[in-house]
Amino acid sequence: MERLGVTETFAGISLPGHLHTKESLHFATTFPFRDTDVLIVTYPKSGTTWMQEILTLLFSDGDAGPARTIPNWERAPWLEQTYFKEALRDTGGPRLITSHLPARVLAPALQRARPKVPVIYVARNPRDVAVSFYHFHRLAKFLPEPGSFDAFLGRFLEGSVQYGSWFEHVKGWLGQRHPARVQDLPGAARRLGAFLGRAPSPETLRSLERHCSFAAMRDNAMANYSLIPREIMDHSRGRFMRKGEGRPGRRGAQLLRGSPLDAVKSMATCGRAVSACAPP
Ligand code: A3P
Repeated sequence: MERLGVTETFAGISLPGHLHTKESLHFATTFPFRDTDVLIVTYPKSGTTWMQEILTLLFSDGDAGPARTIPNWERAPWLEQTYFKEALRDTGGPRLITSHLPARVLAPALQRARPKVPVIYVARNPRDVAVSFYHFHRLAKFLPEPGSFDAFLGRFLEGSVQYGSWFEHVKGWLGQRHPARVQDLPGAARRLGAFLGRAPSPETLRSLERHCSFAAMRDNAMANYSLIPREIMDHSRGRFMRKGEGRPGRRGAQLLRGSPLDAVKSMATCGRAVSACAPP
């Protein structure tokens, strides 16, 4: 399959050049955040789209209109990508912003913001991330051809894949204060609402459960990336919303302690998707 090829290197990490330039990355690290901004941070394939959907519903008080009519990359644009400046809507209200950048790159900009910008960090166990990322490489033409899964896993474990090391990413954002499991959707939404000063009503929670389930998001063209042209994503090689499955078990937060090796060892037992709300 023909690939879009170019790679941008920034702070020792390679990123798809199709989406990032030196300018867009510089803009991201000097961005003047507002105190009403809410930042979603993830390593790729960790539940970014899910959190974008949950927060969209939380901020619309359960009104599914925005989630059903505006693509997620416009609702919660990527800070470091080339289109960010144009996409950021100046609504005067809370702006949802998404990033895959590691803490060592982004934390200084966040520390400059006064008052502090709330950060929602979503982590998923690395085994599921690696499998999901492998499949995503097959369909996203802006990522390199992954080769065999074993070869890809080797690069994932050594941190030489695009977006850098999962281990560094999760450890770097370790300052989380209030872990919550996304598998318990209403519970996680309540905690997110409390963290963001926006307690959801029972009606909002019902709407959120309806629209943020895997099945609902898989069928929502505004969330499932089916609108991305074939030149960029080869939809014949799979779906973005692939399985949405993961391993049940202990909290993913336990993963964050110890060495990368401990994290690998505990892959089999850790939870599937954990969100941590981290004041930077
Ligand atoms: P799989 O490839 O394992 O299916 P990201 O948005 O960070 O790129 O992550 C994508 C992964 O999250 C995909 O995992 C996708 O299916 C899963 N996902 C997205 N929405 C979900 C939901 N509502 N419930 C469960 N998994 C979801």
